[in-house]
Order: sequence, then C-alpha cells, then structure tokens
Amino acid sequence: MVKVDVKYTKLFINNEWVDAVSKKTFPTINPQDETVITQVAEGDKADVDLAVAAAKKAFHRYSEWRMMDASQRGRLLLKLADLLESQARYLAELETLDCGKPVKTAEEEVYYSASVFRHYAGKADKITGSTIPADGDVLSFTIKEPVGVCAQIIPWNYPIPMLTWKLAPALAAGCTMIVKPAEQTPLTALAVAALIKEAGFPAGVVNIIPGYGPTAGAALTHHPDVDKVAFTGSTEVGRIVIAAASVVNLKRVTLELGGKSPLVIFNDADVEKAAQIAHAAAFANGGQCCCAGTRTYVQSGIYDKFVKKAAEIAQKRSVGNPFDDVQQGPQIDADMFKKVLGYIEAGKQGGARCVAGGDRHGNKGYFIKPTVFADVKDDMKIAREEIFGPVQSILKFETFEEVIDRANDSKYGLAAGVITNDITTAMSFAKFVRAGSLWVNTYDYVTSQTPFGGFKDSGIGRELGEDGVNQYLEIKTVTMAVPKMPQL
Ligand code: NAI
Ligand code: MG
Repeated sequence: MVKVDVKYTKLFINNEWVDAVSKKTFPTINPQDETVITQVAEGDKADVDLAVAAAKKAFHRYSEWRMMDASQRGRLLLKLADLLESQARYLAELETLDCGKPVKTAEEEVYYSASVFRHYAGKADKITGSTIPADGDVLSFTIKEPVGVCAQIIPWNYPIPMLTWKLAPALAAGCTMIVKPAEQTPLTALAVAALIKEAGFPAGVVNIIPGYGPTAGAALTHHPDVDKVAFTGSTEVGRIVIAAASVVNLKRVTLELGGKSPLVIFNDADVEKAAQIAHAAAFANGGQCCCAGTRTYVQSGIYDKFVKKAAEIAQKRSVGNPFDDVQQGPQIDADMFKKVLGYIEAGKQGGARCVAGGDRHGNKGYFIKPTVFADVKDDMKIAREEIFGPVQSILKFETFEEVIDRANDSKYGLAAGVITNDITTAMSFAKFVRAGSLWVNTYDYVTSQTPFGGFKDSGIGRELGEDGVNQYLEIKTVTMAVPKMPQL
C-alpha cells in the first residue's frame, strides 16, 4: 500500500485551519480495504455560520477582494493552476486513497482541473456588459456583478474536478464561497484549500467545511446570507436543495444532477470502435459518472456482433488496487456497493441476459466486476434508474424514429451519444435528442470551454465555458437621462 501523508483534516475558515465548534470529527474510509484513513473535523450549523460570516466580510464593498482588479483575480487563478500542477502526484495519491479511483486517472484529473482554472483566469477581466439603444431620452448599459456569497456542494465521484467547476468561475466572477465537499471524499478539497491560501487569495474568499449533507449541507442551503447555491449530486437531494434555497431568501440555484444517458449505435458503425466508445461511456470512473452512457442502443444489423464485442472488452477490463496500473478501482462506499449489486440482481431477476461480470470482485473492498446486460427492455429497472456503477445495458432497435423516442423516454436529460458515419442521421439525432450534451462518434468529451448541464430532472443551469461564469453573475441595468438634443 502506498503511504500518503494526510496533512489537512480541519475546517478551513478565513484562511485558517480550525476545529469544528462542536469538536466533533467523522471518519473518512479507504474504499479499497474499508479501513479508516483519518478523522476529519465535522462541520455543522455553527461552523457554517462562521464560514458564511467570513465569506460575507470578504464580499464587503471595500474588501481587498472586491477592490482587486479583475486582472489580478486572473493572476491568482493562474497561480493556483500552477500550484495544482506542482502538487499533481500528491493530490492524485490522496484522491486515490480517499476515493479509490486509479491513481493515473486521478493525476489526469488534477491536470484537467488546472486547465479549467486557467480558462477562467483568462475570463476574469473579460466579463463585460452591453450598451443598449433604449427608447427615449436615455442611454442604458449593463454591468455584470458577482452574485455574492455562494454555497457550493460537491459530490464524491470527481472530487477535484467538481470542486474546480464550482470554484473557478465563481472566483473569476469575484464571488466569495463556502464549499462543502462530500463526506466520502473530504481530503483533497482541504489540500486544495492550502494551495488557495498559498496562491494569495484573501481570507474569507474560499472557505471549506467538510461534513454531512443533512447538517452542514442543509445549514448552507437555508442560510439567509447565502446568495447562491451550486449543487452536484442526486436528483433526490437536488429537489431538497432547491426547496431549502427558497425558504428564507430566494437563492440563485444551479443543479447538476443524475442521468441515464443513451448512446445510440447505427448499423453503419465500425463495431469494434463503437464497442470501445460504448465501453468507456458506461465504465469510466467505475460507472460513477453523472453522464455515463449506460443505455447502449444498438441497431439490429450489428446487434449480435456488438454484444459479443462489448462482453469481451468488459471481461478484459482490469479491476484492482487503484495504486496499480488498473482501469477500475473500488466503488466509493458500502452503500453504493450494495446499491449497485442490488441493481445487478434486479437485472438478472428482470430477465436481462448477463454476458459479463454480474458479481463482486474479490472479497474485500467495494470492488464490482464490469457487468454487461444484453437484451435489456426499456421498462426494466436497470434501463430506467441511475445505477452509478459498472453496469452497461444493451438494447436493440430497428429505426431512427423508434430509437429517438426511446432515447428521450427518460426523466433525465443530461447527455447522449450517437455513433454513425451518416451526417444526416447524426444531425437529426442532435436536433431531436432532449439532453444537455450530445456527442457524435465520441463520448464524455468535456472541456473547460464547453457548457455542461442537464435538461429535465438532470438539473438547472450550466457549468463551464461562458455559460458557467454567467451563473455567478447578476446583471445590473444602468439607465441615464441623456437628452437627444443638447439643451445649450
Ligand atoms: P447526494 O446527492 O446525497 O450527495 C451529494 C452531495 O450533497 C454531498 O456533498 C452530500 O453531503 C450533499 N447532501 C446530501 N444531502 C444534502 C442535503 N439535505 N442538503 C444539502 N446537501 C446535501 O448523493 P449520494 O448519496 O452520495 O449518492 C446517491 C446517488 O446520487 C448516486 O447513486 C448517484 O445516482 C447520484 N450522484 C450523482 C452525482 C453526479 O455527478 N450528478 C454525484 C454523486 C451521486
Ligand atoms: Mg446521499
């Protein structure tokens, strides 16, 4: 086992490391062997109150942060990106310990996150309003201002990238924030907090409060001095968040929630390539991915060949110690482990044909074999509900009209994919699919420049790109009386 030094386990408020007011701590678990890595300070309402007060003070009109040139905010973001890269290996190992993802993937995620910080570093001094030829003897223009104090609630599946998707645009916009990492993966957010301080961000701009959802999370979503909540997680909790955010004040809310994304493969596809894309779509991050393409629709002409290939690839997927060179580590925790195995059982009971996996891997840690079901029907539980584990469902279709209806027949609408060489088929699919991201002949290709988010129950708002920063801005319209004729 690789030895990783855990340096930070306290709350980060006002650029200081502090214990929880209650002095309580909670354990964070290594999913590989189910052991406790360390105890972490457990934030709750009293700590949230302190962190919000710090963020509010840092947002005061005469604060260092508010008076800072926008270009200087950009420089701080660049510095943070450099620091992240300089610590890439350490952060990756810490992530692998806490989250179980293969260390190589974890390291790639750190470099990707640095690229997102750089993207928004460039954005910081390019946030502009517009001038408007309003009717009457007036001149109007708009100013885009930071929305204020933001609560940002992070999931456990991509702890550093999801932290970055929220921090980077909010910092570029000039907001202040309180972040609650997921209780399963608090360690890397705290390590990033140390780098935020080192980069030179003023005290109170970023505060990090590890803790549980119904306590620390709920305190944030209810707090009267929080202006905006950004949440990534389950649709179930998303509904709780949006309701809580409207109780004492009307917080701006962005939600990035679940999915059950279709990937549709037409007869003209190269079966080998299509099976590889579909495999990565379903199994990336052990299937613990909001946009995972878990409903694989395959046209009847290549269906049998495709199923055989998909099963072969899944059987070859390497699963094991995430510090080794493997493709898949353990699932995140005991709950998710049980939940995913429950879905696998439901697939078998429901009459789907299990052609790969179908069971746990080994007898220690939360490992699950890459599992492929063929002959899945649209009304089966495994075709309708988000599994969030290494399970691919393959479904057969005949025509375009049929498959577009079936692809759209879901409460979710986060992402979709299509594999075909026919431009008309691809463009028609792109036009009619009801999803926030559509990939053609690739899957899960997400960059800092491209907006990401869901239709329907997959969420509200977008992260990344121009749209991402707009979610952290208010628009102020200024209208001045300017007579058309000079009154000289
Ligand atoms: P969750 O939605 O409970 O947790 C996500 C975050 O929300 C965590 O930081 C958690 O502490 C916080 N949270 C929980 N309850 C809260 C509340 N009442 N108020 C404020 N914050 C709260 O997700 P969980 O339980 O980890 O996973 C359940 C399912 O959610 C998964 O099986 C998967 O289907 C989905 N999920 C989706 C993710 C995505 O990327 N969209 C990420 C993680 C989970
Ligand atoms: Mg939960």
